Parts: sequence; C-alpha cells; structure tokens
Amino acid sequence: MNLYDVYPLNDIEITKASGSNVWDANGQQYLDLYGGHAVISIGHTNPHYVQRLTEQLNKVGFYSNSIKIPLQVQLAEKLGQVSGKTDYQLFLCNSGAEANENALKLASFYNGRKKVIAFKGAFHGRTSLAVAATDNPKIVAPVNETENIIFLPHNDEQALVDEFAKHGNEIAAVILEGIQGVGGIREASKSFLQKIRSLCDEYNAVYIADSVQCGYGRTGQFYSHDWAGVDADIYTMAKGMGNGFPIAGISIAPKFKPWHGQLGTTFGGNHLACAAALAVLEVIEKDNLMKNAEEVGAYLIEELKKFEQVKEVRGRGLMIGIELPEELAHVKKELLFKHFIFTGEAKPNVIRLLPALNLTKKHADTFLKAFGELVK
Ligand SMILES: Cc1ncc(COP(=O)(O)O)c(C=O)c1O
Repeated sequence: MNLYDVYPLNDIEITKASGSNVWDANGQQYLDLYGGHAVISIGHTNPHYVQRLTEQLNKVGFYSNSIKIPLQVQLAEKLGQVSGKTDYQLFLCNSGAEANENALKLASFYNGRKKVIAFKGAFHGRTSLAVAATDNPKIVAPVNETENIIFLPHNDEQALVDEFAKHGNEIAAVILEGIQGVGGIREASKSFLQKIRSLCDEYNAVYIADSVQCGYGRTGQFYSHDWAGVDADIYTMAKGMGNGFPIAGISIAPKFKPWHGQLGTTFGGNHLACAAALAVLEVIEKDNLMKNAEEVGAYLIEELKKFEQVKEVRGRGLMIGIELPEELAHVKKELLFKHFIFTGEAKPNVIRLLPALNLTKKHADTFLKAFGELVK
C-alpha cells in the first residue's frame, strides 16, 4: 500500500527533538521556527509534558465520554483561569476543523439561523462548513459548496455594517481569525473586532474567534482577538493545545445552554489528550510563556523591520510574517538547507514564523544572522 500523496515533502527525517531544536537521521541539528505548524507550544519533548503523558499512559490512556473523566474538569478549570474566561464552558474535540464545525453548529442551534459571515483570506479547516468558510475554492469540493457563507473583505467595517443592514436577521455567526495565518499573517484591527462584537450583539449573531493558529498564548494574550478588549462568544482552539498530542476545543460563553447529544465525539477529551493539554497549560503558566512570546516576538519584529530588502513585516508576538520581494523567493529554502532553520510559508512570498513560545532571544539572533546573510 502506498501513502495517499497529498503533501509536498522536504527530504528530511526528524529523529530527535528538544525545546526549539530538532535533529535529522544524519545527526544534523535544526532550529525550529515553524513548531511543526504552530503546534509545538512549550517546546519539543518538554520534560514535564513527557512525564505527565507517560504517567497517564501507565494509568489509563482512553475511555469514552460515557463515564466521568475528572481530567476534563481540571482542564476546563485551568483553561478558564489561564485564558481569563472562568465563566465559559469547554467542549473538547480533536482538530481545528472539528472545533470550527462545532462552533458554527452551536451558533446555528443558538439562534436558529443559517448564514455565516467569513472573510477574504480566511482559513478555517478542510471539512464541511469549515472549508466552505475558507477562502480557497481549490480545496472546496462540490459537496462542500453552500450558499450559506458570505465572504466579505477583511478589515472592512463598512462592508460588515452594510451586510448586517441587509441580512442581519439571517446571520447565525461571524467567524474570523485574530491573525490570518494561511492568509499571510494579517491581523484583524481592534476597531474591526469591536465592530463585529457590537453588530453581533445588535443582531443576536454569534461572534466566533478562530484561535486555532493565533491563540494559545502565541501573541502574548491567550486569544489574540482579545487585544481588541471585547469577548468573543466562542473561541476555537487546537494546534498549541496539546504540544503535538491531537486535542482541540471550543470555549463557549455562558449564554449557550447544552443539552445531552447536542455535540459529541468519540476521541475528544480522552485521558491522554487531557493530560497533554494540562501539562501544556501548566508549563505556559509556570514559565510565563505568554510574556516571553510577546517580548521575543516584539524583538524579532523590530529587528526584521530594519532590513530594507523586506517588503513588510506583519504579526504579533511569535506569529510573524515576513513578506519578501519575488527576487528573494529562494530565502525560505536556503534557511532550511543552508542554515538548517525550519520556517513556515504563506503564498506568494511570505515566511511565517510560528515557533515554540519559549523561544529565546539567542534563538532569535541565530535566525536574524542567517536571514541577514541570505537577503544581503
Ligand atoms: C486558523 C485555522 N483554523 C483552522 C485550522 C484547521 O485546523 P486542523 O488542521 O487541525 O483541522 C487551521 C489549520 O491550519 C488554521 O490555521
């Protein structure tokens, strides 16, 4: 049997990892500024994480949601505390797309409506409604096509006001990323997020903050949307939540009332996943990683802005986009194969930095030196 070949691969096999470093099968060390696509939040093989998962695996790895799982309650408490949303409710699932599907479904259950506002440049996942709300027709299969998604220009308050004025009573939800990731690291402005909040209040629509990539402390706030100073109704999260163990969730405002069977999943919130997510939050809190992400990120952004060859530097904290001109399109590959630094990308020419939240200033300097050599 062959693998179903959907991923363009770099010819590298990683066999060891620690903190912000990984090693390949030949023993070559790499600096990881990609975090396996924003997933590695507390660093590879963090000792507390490994210990907590190992201990849990030796007790019980999985049992279904038909029994009490106290680890879920502990996780909800901890997440409420670290994210500052103590009165929200937690539903656990397995991936970012699934989190968004559940958030959209819950919004529709809540107000009985069907239309969803999403934005140009958005990425919300590859399944059903999440992919329909993703601005990339190439990955939307005919069966996923729906007239229920309305795409509006990003950060355009007037377009939003006009749409609500026309169809406000049909809008179930507005969904957006605090900082678009796949879309090229584009932050929603504070006033745009505030406008979404006030329009959703006025029309009884649900504000869904897709925090799958920009959340979990990456920008220095637990949810990057919260820089705008207004709460979303539902926050969706995944990537950094389990530091590589698949777990996702939605944080749900108190006004939503659950009933048995409303949402569900087989694997969501299993013992091992909860142990992983608890370990992540414990490390984020103990090591003050949100502050570190904010500070090291600000340093990187400031230094990157000094390169006149760079078209634009965007982002916040450790979610950074470096837009390069066409003639520097080779830099990303050379960072990897000449300087052994993993980074992410966004089309057409944006280098995306999504490292672990405990990245040090020394790591940042290693990157800046290599980057400087490549762009000069
Ligand atoms: C903002 C955002 N939402 C949703 C998703 C989908 O997450 P998953 O791949 O875990 O389904 C992603 C993945 O890149 C994402 O960046």
